[in-house]
Amino acid sequence: MLKTVVCVSGGGTNLQAILDAIEQGRITNTRITAVISNNPGAKALERAKTHGIPGIVMSPKEYPDRESFHRAFTEKMCELAPDLIVLAGFLVKIPQEMVARFSGRIVNIHPSLIPSFCGVGYYGLKVHEKALERGVKLTGATVHFVNEGMDEGPIIAQRAVEVREDDTPQTLQRRVMEQAEWILLPAAIDDIANGRLQIADGKVRRKRNGDSL
Ligand code: GRF
Repeated sequence: MLKTVVCVSGGGTNLQAILDAIEQGRITNTRITAVISNNPGAKALERAKTHGIPGIVMSPKEYPDRESFHRAFTEKMCELAPDLIVLAGFLVKIPQEMVARFSGRIVNIHPSLIPSFCGVGYYGLKVHEKALERGVKLTGATVHFVNEGMDEGPIIAQRAVEVREDDTPQTLQRRVMEQAEWILLPAAIDDIANGRLQIADGKVRRKRNGDSL
């Protein structure tokens, strides 16, 4: 059973997609043991509560400086001892010490086709605003492992989504969620939980029959 902690900041629709997939058997061998939010008002915390999953608030605002927040956050994660950490719309950069401790065990969903529209400053609706400003005809979402960089870790899966001429950042965000994020993230968790992914030379490869992980 893959003990999983999900980190969130807002609405939690990606968390909901994971919870639904577990309930419907599209994710197997996985249990969400806690949901961590930096935002006490996150709707995602209500979704966790509805499913009987403990919600934990850890906000940098409650600490005198970033360093003490990083220490407390990493300690809390070590206490929870997850096999997998899922960043599902989590707007806080993961401390280096946590990346080191949980190397190859943290995944993130990003609402663009990396390496487009990612990195510092590209989060939430801003990603879609920039895509529309640039006039791209295709965008999408990427699920990737987290390393010390920003949106730079090995890519697990991507899905393209069409941009329409009358799109607003909001309509585009919704389509990217429906057609890409809510499909990719549960599928990646299921693949990890069932040993179907492997990392070789910094790249993620799907395990073929007979390969050992
Ligand atoms: C998603 O688009 C995610 O990719 C981005 O922030 C949004 C969070 O949505 N990083 P939700 O909280 O899962 O509804």
